[in-house]
Amino acid sequence: PKLIEAKFVTSAADYRKCPPPTKPEYAFIGRSNVGKSSLINMLAGNKNLAKTSQVPGKTQLINHFEINKKYYIVDLPGYGFAKAPKNEREKWGDMIGNYLANRESLVCVFVLIDIRHEPQRVDLEFLDFLGERDVPFCLIFTKADKVGGLTAEKNVELFKKTMLLSWTKIPQYFITSSERRLGRDEILQAIEEMNLS
Ligand code: GTP
Ligand code: MG
Repeated sequence: PKLIEAKFVTSAADYRKCPPPTKPEYAFIGRSNVGKSSLINMLAGNKNLAKTSQVPGKTQLINHFEINKKYYIVDLPGYGFAKAPKNEREKWGDMIGNYLANRESLVCVFVLIDIRHEPQRVDLEFLDFLGERDVPFCLIFTKADKVGGLTAEKNVELFKKTMLLSWTKIPQYFITSSERRLGRDEILQAIEEMNLS
């Protein structure tokens, strides 16, 4: 899939205000600043589709984008932003928790992991949260342009090894760079395949 048609649809603070669940849906989630919005722009081939920022906490709502009139991709606010006040974090938990638990058209959640770091507790805890709710997910390692190949490989292997302490298998995963447009075809293809099943 080379060219895709991407259209902003809605920003909502509540899953009940999202578009009718009539199309398969794929959500992008991960720590604040991990590169969710940038990745969506890279997939869509449009740098201005989702708002990005160097400052964590940019995306605040549930943002729906319609792709090729066929499916939705969803940009979500990040978790694990240490400077966010407690009531903000609780609001996030409610908004995202309810969305993930109740959005009937949600096919798969892409969980973004910053490839520069060793496994982070918040990320592993978030995977547990998905597991407890039986939400299907894939992993996307981001910002691969920021580290050398060896570090990237080491951190991915370490993440897989850590996951295997509490999971029986490793989900499908992708290594990406929004800067270098790395991983785009693989992710779009995985979505196409899930659309068919
Ligand atoms: P929140 O909405 O705040 O949760 O953040 P986010 O996960 O949507 O991150 P966003 O896409 O806004 O990107 C955060 C910062 O990381 C920006 O300065 C981006 O330019 C940068 N960034 C994102 N992806 C990449 C990448 O693949 N490579 C590099 N070098 N920088 C990236
Ligand atoms: Mg964002």
